[in-house]
Amino acid sequence: MDLQDRYPTVEDLRRKARRRVPHFVWEYLDSATGAETCHARNLAGLEQVRFRPAILKGPQAVQLETRFLGVDYDAPFGVAPVGMAGLIWPGAEQHLARAARDARLPFCLSTVATRLPEEIGPIAGDMGWFQLYSPSDPEIRRDILRRAWSSGFRTCVVTVDLPAPSRRERQRKAGITLPPRLTPRILSQIARRPAWALGTLQNGTPRLRLVESYVEEKSAKGSLAHPGYIIRGAPDWDYLHALRSEWSGPLIVKGVMDPADACPLVAAGVDAIWVSNHSGRQFDGARAAIEVLPEVRAAVPDTPLIFDSGVRGGLDILRALALGADFAMLGRAFYYAVAALGARGGAHVIELLRDDMASNLGQMGLPNFKGLRDKLASPGALFPMADPPYGQ
Ligand code: FNR
Ligand code: LAC
Repeated sequence: MDLQDRYPTVEDLRRKARRRVPHFVWEYLDSATGAETCHARNLAGLEQVRFRPAILKGPQAVQLETRFLGVDYDAPFGVAPVGMAGLIWPGAEQHLARAARDARLPFCLSTVATRLPEEIGPIAGDMGWFQLYSPSDPEIRRDILRRAWSSGFRTCVVTVDLPAPSRRERQRKAGITLPPRLTPRILSQIARRPAWALGTLQNGTPRLRLVESYVEEKSAKGSLAHPGYIIRGAPDWDYLHALRSEWSGPLIVKGVMDPADACPLVAAGVDAIWVSNHSGRQFDGARAAIEVLPEVRAAVPDTPLIFDSGVRGGLDILRALALGADFAMLGRAFYYAVAALGARGGAHVIELLRDDMASNLGQMGLPNFKGLRDKLASPGALFPMADPPYGQ
């Protein structure tokens, strides 16, 4: 049976993934923070964005290609940075970097990846983006940037939405550590997931290789409620200015949830703004990311905008584009796919998303993304700011 028939939705992949990874891994991938209401709002907010279908349009071809920050992509979506990816599925970073490059979509490597930029850069080719968690030591920052650049990464994404640790209650309860501490409970979870266990044996215990090259082995092996904090910095505007002067490629700031931050970021020389609430993993009190998107668009009408947090299908990508995004990124969807299907997961979910986008554009009689905004059913009623003075 064809994979597209067996797993036609991200939810199908999610269910399959859950059966293939140990419980503690599942809790890491699938969880958010607090009561997970922000995560629920992200999903519900997207669902509220509705369109008017078209009739009597005759046959139409759809076109998904997009130019973004000077690069041609085959569609306006890509793989968001996910830390400890090799824990989710052995080889996840390599699998997804390859799938993204083959499909001409961006693959964003996390600072807290289990593989080095030197390993993933050549696989991702010109589709690689590098995500930075800001080390407080400027020497380390500059060295990481230098290594990313010489590994072929040209687009740098600095994630700024971790101003303080989040509690990650589900992760705590699951006893997540890196490397996995082999308590009897964790061992019995691993024993029930032979494909994951075998793959992990073959690939070697997942480690934060980049981070480990700067911190003492000892601390890298400790308990990690949140791995980003090994090289935790508390970046401020001066930090951003320094980073801007140190990176000559496009610089993207990820984790913007307040439209008031948009203009100062552009003034600081940022090339694109990434509207995201880290998918509800940091602050359960945040608004739905999709609700904030049109406000950011209104604040910076000409700045390239990326959206994430809750995208589960091609239709959600169209919803984000209609509300002002130029590009959407997906975190969990890609990693559910690779956990469900291994090396085949990336290509599968890409095909699924492309097909869903094409089908839904077809329902609206649109040959491309232009005109999506005009197809919104009642933007102002849902998100009062969704009718701003920006054109498309
Ligand atoms: C993340 N995210 C993330 N972001 C980042 O900048 N660096 C990172 O290392 C990570 N790590 C990470 C791990 C896991 C397991 C998840 C689920 C998420 C956030 C990620 O880039 C993205 O913002 C969200 O995943 C988008 O929401 P969806 O698509 O997962 O709903
Ligand atoms: C997370 C970190 C790695 O969301 O950003 O788990």
